[in-house]
Amino acid sequence: MESKFTVLVSDDISEKGIDLLRQDPTMAVDVKTKLSREELYAIIGDYDALITRSMTTVDQDLLDHTSGRLRVVGRAGVGLDNVDVEAASKMGIVVLNTPTGNTLAATEHTMAMLLAACRMIPKAHSTLVGGKWDRKSFMGFELYRRKLGIIGLGRIGSQVARRAKGFEMEIYAYDPYILREKAESLGVKLLPSLDELLETVDIITLHTPRTPETLGMIGTRELNLLPDGAIVVNVARGGLIVEEELHSALQSGKLRAAAVDVFDVEPAVDNKLLELDNIVVTPHLGANTDASQINVAVMVAQQVMNVLKGEDYEGA
Ligand code: NAD
Ligand code: MLT
Repeated sequence: MESKFTVLVSDDISEKGIDLLRQDPTMAVDVKTKLSREELYAIIGDYDALITRSMTTVDQDLLDHTSGRLRVVGRAGVGLDNVDVEAASKMGIVVLNTPTGNTLAATEHTMAMLLAACRMIPKAHSTLVGGKWDRKSFMGFELYRRKLGIIGLGRIGSQVARRAKGFEMEIYAYDPYILREKAESLGVKLLPSLDELLETVDIITLHTPRTPETLGMIGTRELNLLPDGAIVVNVARGGLIVEEELHSALQSGKLRAAAVDVFDVEPAVDNKLLELDNIVVTPHLGANTDASQINVAVMVAQQVMNVLKGEDYEGA
């Protein structure tokens, strides 16, 4: 019998992607999620392909256990900060992601988080469910004519800008890697420095990847450039904002509120930010919609099969 390509799916992805792999007679697919590192090290050498989402860190240690067999790592998502792309590339392993598959899900979650923070919806909900009819404690913050600062005007940042226009906000962005014309076509004013953006706007929302350059890009110094009572939204990546310093700014009242979907360490069940009253948190749900999970799973499955069969693929 002809040997098959072996594929390990190590994080939860939509069944539609797994079905696509299984429909191909040349693929042998194992879905083994929540493996310990030791369990993963013990089996990774048996696979030609690894498909992950956020929970599997593909670092040099894991790559050292691949016994030269692994040919492709596919991430069902955008960010590749949990994959050591350089180390994989040096070993001839293709790394790919699904950059467009969850753009709208992350965009809509950003808007949901922004509105939830402006009106403190989670806290108002739990107050009422707890039997208290309290209208006085929940004075909201209107978006109309407020200045929104988008940090990273890529796919998600641009879609956020389009939706914020619907609220009649004034929109500014900081992104040193895009053309002014792109911002202008979105009706966004591109500012030349992060400091200038922070000094201009009432709300910031982050949409950059996590890279050595963006890690810790927002800390106390940057938060202090915002007006008192500003709002901060992070549906991009943990680590972009220094968590300790965000905590202080929320506690002191420098910030009115924050909405945070992503954390330095995930799962973030013991995070100090969760103790604060003026924060809205979700457990990395940006990409969690039916449509986007099907998109990214099907896209990653197709790309991984293309690599294994020597066909054209889109790399990261
Ligand atoms: P993208 O590549 O289209 O856009 C990123 C933008 O950030 C680019 O325009 C880039 O020029 C800009 N950028 C890079 N470095 C910068 C810097 N130092 N300062 C300002 N701008 C900078 O990516 P995208 O599809 O918009 O996704 C953005 C990020 O969102 C992803 O990398 C991922 O980490 C995160 N994300 C999170 C979720 C979630 O579940 N919460 C879902 C999808 C994406
Ligand atoms: C992404 O980078 O696309 C997201 O973080 C995806 C996810 O893991 O949900």
